[in-house]
Amino acid sequence: MTGNSLDPYVAAYARRTTGMRASAIRALFAVASRPEVVSLAGGMPYLQSLPLKEIAAQVERLISDEGSVALQYGSGQGIEPLREQICEIMALEGIVAEPDDVVVTVGSQMALDLVTKIFCDPGDVILAEAPSYVGALSVFSAYQTEVVHVAMDDSGLIPEAVEEAIAGCAARGQRVKLLYTIPNFHNPAGVTLSAERRARIAEICRSAGIAVLEDNPYGLLGFDGATHRAIRADDADNVIYLGSFSKTFAPGLRIGWVLAPHAAREKLVLANEAATLNPPVFNQMMISRYLASFDWKSQIKAYRQTYAERRDAMLGALSTHMPDGTRWTVPQGGFYVWLTAPTGLDTSAMLPRAVTARVAYVPGTAFFTDGQGGSQMRLSFCFPTPDRIVEGVRRLGSVIDAEREVHATFGSGMGGPRAAGGIGGATPGVIAGVDAPSPNTA
Ligand SMILES: Cc1ncc(COP(=O)(O)O)c(C=O)c1O
Repeated sequence: MTGNSLDPYVAAYARRTTGMRASAIRALFAVASRPEVVSLAGGMPYLQSLPLKEIAAQVERLISDEGSVALQYGSGQGIEPLREQICEIMALEGIVAEPDDVVVTVGSQMALDLVTKIFCDPGDVILAEAPSYVGALSVFSAYQTEVVHVAMDDSGLIPEAVEEAIAGCAARGQRVKLLYTIPNFHNPAGVTLSAERRARIAEICRSAGIAVLEDNPYGLLGFDGATHRAIRADDADNVIYLGSFSKTFAPGLRIGWVLAPHAAREKLVLANEAATLNPPVFNQMMISRYLASFDWKSQIKAYRQTYAERRDAMLGALSTHMPDGTRWTVPQGGFYVWLTAPTGLDTSAMLPRAVTARVAYVPGTAFFTDGQGGSQMRLSFCFPTPDRIVEGVRRLGSVIDAEREVHATFGSGMGGPRAAGGIGGATPGVIAGVDAPSPNTA
C-alpha cells in the first residue's frame, strides 16, 4: 500500500504502486533549475545545435503536403518508411534487420515498459548493471520485478559477475528473465562494454535462457566517431534491442524503437496498441523527412563535437578541483561521468549543501535498487556550456572539500555510506577513473 493518511485512496491503490516513489531529490531539482545553479544533474541534449529554422520549414511542409495523414491515427507498429530508415541506422552498428521486426515506441522509455510488461511477472528477476539507468529501474519496479545488480568496471559488465548473479538467483530459486545492459557510453557510469565481453555475455545469457535487453540511445555519440558493434548484431534470436531519436535528434518528439526477435514482435505491437494505440504519426513523419532530407550524420557529428568539448572541460576541471581520493570515469562518448567521492562522504546528504553552493548532481543511490552508490554521483556534461561546467565542478570541489573536513572532524559518527564497490569504487582490480585508467578508457 502506498500514499499517506491524507490520501483518501490509500486503501485502494494496486500493489504495484508500492515501488512508485517520488524521488527524494525532486524538490531540490526545482531549486537546481534556477539559473544561478549549475546543473550537472540532467541528461538533456543540447538542442541549440539543431537547424531549427529548417526544421520549422519542414514541419510547415509536412502539414501542407500530408497533414491529413500526419494528424490521423496510425499503425500500432509505426510507419513503414521510418522503420526502414531505422534499419539503416542500426546497420551502422552491424545489425541486419527487417523493418517488420521494428516496433516504433513513445521514446525508448515506452519500449522498456512494453518489454518488461510482456516478459516479466511480479517476482521475476532482471539483472542490471551496478549502477543502472534510473528510468529503467522505475519501470522494473512498477512491474514488481526484482533487480539484481551486477558489477561492472571500466570495460563494462563483468562476465564472471553475470555468471555469479545467475548462479545466485538459481540457488535462491529465482527466475531470471532479462539481462538489461547499456553497452555504449553508459548512463550513468560513462563506460563502454568491450567487444570480447559482448560476445561472452551474449553466450552466457543464451545458454542460461535469459534474454538480453540491449538499450542503446547513445551509440552514435562516440567522440572519435567510431561505432561499436551491437550485441544484437551477433545474436538476433536472444537480444531485444532498443534505440531512440532522443539523443541523436530531439527528445521532445518522444520517438524510440524496439527491434525484437520475430517471435516477440506481435506481442510488442499488441502491448503498444493497448498502451498508446499508436506512436505519434506526426512525429514519426517529421523524423522520417528529417532523415531523408537533412544531412543528419553531420548533425550527429556536430553533437559529438559539442559533447566532446564539454567532456574535456569536465575532466580538466575535475583534475584541477577535486580533492585527493576522488575518482571518476573517463567516458569516450555520451553524456555522463560517474564520480566516487572520498571515503565516507554521503552524496545524498551532501546534495542540499551543493545546491546551496549553486551546483547540482544526481546522487549515486538513485541508480541502484539495493542502497549502493552512497558515496557516488552522476555528473552530466551534455547541457551546460564548458565555462559553466568548469565553474560547476569548481563549486562541487569546494563542497566536497568542506564535507571532507567535517567528516575528518566527526569521523564515522556522520554515518557515511558503506565503501563503494564496482565501477569508480574501491574493489581491488576494478577501480575506474583517472587514477587507474584501463585500456578501455585511456
Ligand atoms: C539508457 C537510457 N535508456 C532510455 C532512455 C529513455 O530515452 P527516451 O527519451 O528515448 O525515452 C534514456 C534517457 O535518458 C537513457 O539514458
